[in-house]
Amino acid sequence: MKIIHNIDDMRKLVREYRDNKKSIGFVPTMGALHKGHMSLVESSKEDNDITVMSIYVNPTQFGPKEDLASYFRPIEQDKEMAQYYNVDVLFLPSDEIMYKTNETAFVTENTLSQILCGAYRPGHFQGVCTIVTKLLHIVSPHHIYLGQKDAQQLRILQKMVSELFFDVKVVPAQTIREDDGLACSSRNGYLHDEERLVAPSIYQSILLAKNAFEKGERRSEVLLSIVRSHLQKFPLVDVQYIEIVSWDNFEKIELIEKTTLLAVACFVGKTRLIDNIIFTP
Ligand code: PAF
Repeated sequence: MKIIHNIDDMRKLVREYRDNKKSIGFVPTMGALHKGHMSLVESSKEDNDITVMSIYVNPTQFGPKEDLASYFRPIEQDKEMAQYYNVDVLFLPSDEIMYKTNETAFVTENTLSQILCGAYRPGHFQGVCTIVTKLLHIVSPHHIYLGQKDAQQLRILQKMVSELFFDVKVVPAQTIREDDGLACSSRNGYLHDEERLVAPSIYQSILLAKNAFEKGERRSEVLLSIVRSHLQKFPLVDVQYIEIVSWDNFEKIELIEKTTLLAVACFVGKTRLIDNIIFTP
């Protein structure tokens, strides 16, 4: 596995791959790698000759009161894991490389990013769009792999790539879960034992809604109340939002008639966890 720290070296390598007609798959991450990231690597390896992974904890997508300083950075363990999964190139840029001081150019999506997580994390999606733009300009991949656990991020980046004519195909990947259903996330590592035990209640609540949907329930209000009532049974779970919106434009809907997202964000103790399901009638 090649480890690259700067932009020129990364661009030179990519140019060589492209000159040799190699296809490039890209898995952007913030490290603290887990099974979810590795399933993205596996998809990339199936589709491409070369898989590039980046590990970069992007400061501009964290709010002032968020967990940037305490975000896990187990870099040696991450390198071993990337090597084990046969990542071809690991791109590890520093803050100095990714951001000059007093930058004024950012990439913004201004509709989908205003609701759900965006309503509680102002500036978050601008940070995500900006860093993914920078990374795409450096890595120039044919495919970028993004997990559906971050459904809003996925939709916003799909729109960004399409509307700004990025020459890359976004490949969505399904959410990978622990055995008890908890969606894999680097933030699961913050959960204390007791919190970890109740965290799967988020997915359980989603499954209850899924069950009702499969039996024919189409009213958002009813599905939302199923999720809410289940989560209310767990005092350690503090719901931030539960929403049902259309998959294409994230408008709130009352009756599910087309592809729809049910998204949940909760605090379990101090840790913010998200999960979701897509309903296709
Ligand atoms: O999903 C993530 O880990 C991050 O938001 C991403 C896409 C790597 C951008 O920093």
